[in-house]
Amino acid sequence: MKLIACKDYKEMSKKAAKEILELVHSEKRCTLGLATGSTPEGVYKALVEDFNKGETSYKQVSSVNLDEYVGLTKDNPNSYHHYMKSNLFQHIDLPENQQLIPNGVANDLEVECREYEKTIAELGGVDLQLLGIGHNGHIGFNEPRTPFSSRTHVVDLAEKTRKANARFFSDITEVPAQAITMGIETIMESKKILLLISGKSKAEALSKLINGPIDESFPASILKNHPNVTIMADEEAMSLLEEEAVGRQHIL
Ligand code: PGA
Repeated sequence: MKLIACKDYKEMSKKAAKEILELVHSEKRCTLGLATGSTPEGVYKALVEDFNKGETSYKQVSSVNLDEYVGLTKDNPNSYHHYMKSNLFQHIDLPENQQLIPNGVANDLEVECREYEKTIAELGGVDLQLLGIGHNGHIGFNEPRTPFSSRTHVVDLAEKTRKANARFFSDITEVPAQAITMGIETIMESKKILLLISGKSKAEALSKLINGPIDESFPASILKNHPNVTIMADEEAMSLLEEEAVGRQHIL
């Protein structure tokens, strides 16, 4: 894993956007793996700013999102369909049929999971997967003790995750109990992974990722086995790391 130290959230977001844009410009027909949550909002803002300058087109790009809540329709303001539309898709020229997100209201969720895997395979896999990390080390909605061999599946959300995400809902009782998520093995098949970690509240997770063992109790730890992972973290997130790990760019 490579750790790129960033001063703050803004610098981290700009650097991550630059990396995505380099791929979009160099390989017009590529597949981006996208994430939701607070962390990537700044990246999407930077991509929209770039798009408005008129130098980038996403017509040849496909996107696959990591996850979606079960039971929320596309137009529900808390669905990840809605998040992606308002943060990114409505502002750029990525064709709608190339914006792929699991359908959380599919009649048969198991079939939906299998179809999602098929879609990713047909696209030739994910070229660059953007990831955030949960306080408990989850990636996508793969909660602690999800098998490293998991593929896209329906998951029961951990209470900690529902509480963390309750800030987007009017009440915790409205946070869905389940989600569809790409599996850990699915994520690990991405050619490149860009993991963004920002803020003091994520410092413990970053420290555990770097210093802890590879174990299913901390899903993100498997990323140590991936040949091409870049972590971009800001100073607050790095506050619990040993000095030597925090060069401007450090191979771990
Ligand atoms: P956050 O979520 O970006 O909203 O902190 C990240 C995650 O839970 O994966």
